[in-house]
Amino acid sequence: MTQNTLIVSNWKMNFNFIQAKNLVTNLKNIEYNKKKISNVICPQFLLLPILNKLLEESDFVLGAQDFHFEFSGAYTGDTSIELVKDYNCKYSIIGHSERRILHNESNSMIKKKVRLCLDNFIIPILCVGESIEQRKKNIYKNFIMKQLTECIEGIKCEKLVVAYEPIWSIGTGIVPTVGDIIEISELIFSFLKKKKIEKFKILYGGSVNSTNFYQINSIDKINGALIGGASLKIDEMEKILTSC
Ligand code: PGA
Repeated sequence: MTQNTLIVSNWKMNFNFIQAKNLVTNLKNIEYNKKKISNVICPQFLLLPILNKLLEESDFVLGAQDFHFEFSGAYTGDTSIELVKDYNCKYSIIGHSERRILHNESNSMIKKKVRLCLDNFIIPILCVGESIEQRKKNIYKNFIMKQLTECIEGIKCEKLVVAYEPIWSIGTGIVPTVGDIIEISELIFSFLKKKKIEKFKILYGGSVNSTNFYQINSIDKINGALIGGASLKIDEMEKILTSC
């Protein structure tokens, strides 16, 4: 069955109010095939309230970039899933490599987030992907399988998005070959099938732009992309959204 294409914009720690408002206003004017594409924007937490208003009655939905693994408590500086939900986030990125590396997030912590997400009816976008060293040593497949297993083992996921994001491709302009993406997407696909996840999508992320998007999105088991740098540019987004 052909699935809708899911395009997730990961704005990371970019944009002030005015820049965010400008981009969203322009994005809303793009004419693209809304029946075929679902669009998610993941801004910084403090942009959620204004974007929630600006996106009202649009076809764009909001997603979070992260949240704390506990529902509430003494966690200074963290943000709870409850607030993310209050601002209408339908998705949340979980376990992005920047969080794993810069904030020491472990698979067991990420698993708690997956569970909390599902308990709160938010669809997890679970990121997995290897470092360049792991690829060179040819241990990348085992590493990705370990990440997947440890992040969702024992959890009943009705809906799940898995994003394959090789660390060496994020923000570098280096993209794996189509063959490399096919290999990993098939690995993830059979893992999720075996786990009997009812509804899932597999995204690719890492230096996606308007030049490579079409080819990547045409890969059989790939259902869309998680886009960082290019998602901040209106001309890139317009080309991406109108190419499918
Ligand atoms: P990039 O980022 O598109 O800038 O490589 C992707 C990501 O980190 O999700």
